[in-house]
Amino acid sequence: MADDSPHLVVFTGAGISAESGIQTFRAADGLWAEHPIEEVATPQAWRRDPARVLQFYNRRREQVRRARPNAAHRALAALERQGFRVSIITQNIDDLHERAGSRRVLHLHGEILKARSTVDARMQYPLPRGGIELGDICDKGSQLRPDVVWFGEGVPHFPEACGIVGEADLLLVVGTSLAVMPAASLLEHTPLDAPSVLVDPEADILAPPGVTRIRQPAAKGVPALVRHWQREGRLWVPETLLG
Ligand code: APR
Repeated sequence: MADDSPHLVVFTGAGISAESGIQTFRAADGLWAEHPIEEVATPQAWRRDPARVLQFYNRRREQVRRARPNAAHRALAALERQGFRVSIITQNIDDLHERAGSRRVLHLHGEILKARSTVDARMQYPLPRGGIELGDICDKGSQLRPDVVWFGEGVPHFPEACGIVGEADLLLVVGTSLAVMPAASLLEHTPLDAPSVLVDPEADILAPPGVTRIRQPAAKGVPALVRHWQREGRLWVPETLLG
């Protein structure tokens, strides 16, 4: 990776994995409609009914293991292989960017394929198979939980993510409703001269002022952008892709 090559920062949400078969959260038939947040994704839910929370994430984990990276994940990895500086900041807890071959991936909301201790967040354990059950404990003897960030918890990688966005030549945002803070506020950390682009079927409604909209699904819109960048060796947004 050449350090003087253009720096593409990519900020992804559930929409980039939708075409891989992983449900998004806020669609009418999304995960939060079926499983209310306060019952499965808060510290209070964990205290009240840990078995239910574990079961929810055990099912999500199986869905992630069955899924495969799609054309959007693969295009971003190919761009990095070609020599572009590509930093990915994802809200997703799946590993589809890594499986596509991307090497610089920061998971803002954690990783479902890891368990962690409930008494020491630094004690993490990979979960190559199976789930987490009540009674599974860390080396200090405490119950394991999914290594994900729940509503009401801090986002430990947020300052690092702000630093990465602050060094972008272009910010590509893909498949996120920008509904969750502090993640959505990352867009405000883009340098003044760096353009931002949102690829999302709902881009017209979601894009904040000043953000270019590409109203397409990720597996179409992202590879189309990447093909232009690969051909031209620079980061720009061709007018033919807008709308
Ligand atoms: N391609 C691109 N975008 C898509 C596609 C697709 N094929 N299908 C749906 N989308 C878009 C939707 O239009 C929506 O804007 O993906 C977005 C999904 O939004 P959310 O379900 O709100 O997911 P996300 O923005 O990632 O949620 C942020 O909230 O629930 C928490 O921690 C969870 O990380 C998650 C965070």
